Amino acid sequence: MSILVTGGAGFIGSHTVVELLNAGEEVIIVDDFSNSKPQTLEAIKKITGKDFKFYEMNYLDREKLEKVFEENDIDSVINFAGFKAVGESVKKPLAYYHNNVSGCLILLETMKKYNVKKFVFSSSATVYGTPEKIPLTEDCKTGGTTNPYGTSKLFIEQILKDLYTSDNSWDICILRYFNPVGAHESGLIGEEPQGIPNNLMPYVVRVASGELKELSVFGNDYDTPDGTGVRDYIHVVDLAKGHLSALKKLDKEGKGLFIYNLGTGTGYSVLDMVKAFEEITGRKVPYKIAPRREGDIATCYSNPAKAKEELHWEAKKGIKEMCEDSWKYIQKNKNKI
Ligand code: UFG
Repeated sequence: MSILVTGGAGFIGSHTVVELLNAGEEVIIVDDFSNSKPQTLEAIKKITGKDFKFYEMNYLDREKLEKVFEENDIDSVINFAGFKAVGESVKKPLAYYHNNVSGCLILLETMKKYNVKKFVFSSSATVYGTPEKIPLTEDCKTGGTTNPYGTSKLFIEQILKDLYTSDNSWDICILRYFNPVGAHESGLIGEEPQGIPNNLMPYVVRVASGELKELSVFGNDYDTPDGTGVRDYIHVVDLAKGHLSALKKLDKEGKGLFIYNLGTGTGYSVLDMVKAFEEITGRKVPYKIAPRREGDIATCYSNPAKAKEELHWEAKKGIKEMCEDSWKYIQKNKNKI
């Protein structure tokens, strides 16, 4: 029995495939390389010494997707396919809704047709909108998303809830990620944002390497200890392991729709991250204080207790590994990115 991983060549997808292969699972990857590279697949093989089946295709292509289900004995699906740039989603809402929502619908319809009903979905802390309370627990209200990317995650969560209500033979796990950073300790796979990065860590890394001049810290007048935004940064390998725990839950305990925060429960400010990065790597990260970025909130971090209790999962890697591994990846791949 195999696990189908859509978007398996992407940042979180590739790290999850590594963990799945290391755990002895059979994996099938579907990816169209729209935001990833073929070399990542080679890197996964190098890290794990294991092979997997790969289909280069967009998951919106129903005919090809059906062929994947026909040709393989698929037991469960983890869906990482989707666009994820917040700013771009504001400019291209139709592309985001089409790719993220329609793509997921086609995937679910195909699963239904082939009677595959175990599904793990990559959601995001963005579904909480402006947090009702901090730390965020899974029962906090959702909604009030400020961009089509976030709203696409919210819509899919609702679709999954409605699907489960209509047919409770589905086993569904919704994972709400906080801020994924870091890279595999081998330095062979990591995050490769196209163009100038929007997210903090990839930006910091490129300033440290001299590729970008300085970091703009978006606002230092928030109601936080040092005035800069506070987030729950989580190492991507910890995040990847959370998916294995989610699958285990669906396999062993099954029957249900479950929602978990995947975070560390610790909030770091922008300046905390800059300072830690400088200390750990010995590189300077010049920065200037800039105006607040539209749509940003002051503070967002998780209460990860539910995942710990029910998935027996918790983040193990700290800020040191997050900085070290992000830095190692860019050092190793400087000329390739
Ligand atoms: N920041 C800067 N300068 C930068 C980039 C970011 O100061 O150049 C600050 C932001 O203002 C914020 C913090 O760094 O305070 C983190 O910003 P990111 O862009 O790295 O992350 P966000 O928390 O804004 O968004 C992330 C993901 C989204 C996801 C969201 C979930 O990028 O996909 O977390 O809460 F929806």
